[in-house]
Amino acid sequence: MFKSKNLLGIKDLTPNEINFILDTASGFKDVLARDIKKVPPLRGKTVVNLFFEPSTRTRTSFTLAGKRLSADVVNFSVNTSSVVKGETLKDTALTIQSLGADFIVIRHASSGVPHFLSKILNISIINAGDGANEHPTQALLDLFTIRSHKKKINGLTVAIIGDIAHSRVAKSNIYGLTKLGAKVRVICPPTLMPAGIDKLGVDVFHSIEQGIKNADVIMTLRLQLERQVKGFLPSLEEYFKLYGLTAERLKLARDNAIVMHPGPMNRGVEIDSEVADGPQSVILEQVTNGIAVRMAVLYILAGVRR
Ligand code: CP
Repeated sequence: MFKSKNLLGIKDLTPNEINFILDTASGFKDVLARDIKKVPPLRGKTVVNLFFEPSTRTRTSFTLAGKRLSADVVNFSVNTSSVVKGETLKDTALTIQSLGADFIVIRHASSGVPHFLSKILNISIINAGDGANEHPTQALLDLFTIRSHKKKINGLTVAIIGDIAHSRVAKSNIYGLTKLGAKVRVICPPTLMPAGIDKLGVDVFHSIEQGIKNADVIMTLRLQLERQVKGFLPSLEEYFKLYGLTAERLKLARDNAIVMHPGPMNRGVEIDSEVADGPQSVILEQVTNGIAVRMAVLYILAGVRR
């Protein structure tokens, strides 16, 4: 079923491979509901989290996912490593492989770093976010969360609002949702809409009111303030006025629409707190589902390497 020992992006996956990961994650969600949440399949294996950018959710849930599967998990701290003495990424990665790691989970500000590592290492590489390219496990946990609420993905209308140009979450979700048959709308100011986005099979909107009308799922995205996104906007206040998800705007979507956000949120910029903490929000459920989905990814890739 799954041929690659790496997970570099959703772009490379077939619909069957995506569904296989989601189905495997369902089994692990049941495991996580038990009193004893630990299972043995990765006993003797080592997972190294190599994060060159900050993270709360992804790093913590990969740590918990590895531990729940009985792997040894090492969180590599870039700031106290030989990287600060000038060691290259290639030498750091080769060193981690030589120390006996079976998986490297890598987050980096530059697009393509996981792909580069996959060419020089024999061990499994998992992309935990590379620049503005992809964040595959975020999209998988989003798909899992949508499927568990809506019982299907095919035929749903999903509105993605925000910084489409700089968002790796948007790209991975667009690949995943369209492969599984959802209708995807992307909504943002023209300055944050990448040229040629319509070639990915999405409908483009610049009005939030039109874009979220009758949507089944509304996915708000974080403004990537660390990627100089402020230069593309008059001000954050103006952005909220035109594109912020408020309770009033949410009424335009279907009554049972769910509200998602990958986190971390800029409250009062992309989303009003009333919506983020409201009854239609599944934002914290996304976080919880991340553990089961990352367990599924580690488990499946370990099977390919055997
Ligand atoms: N969604 C996400 O990637 O969150 P973190 O940056 O906290 O990992």
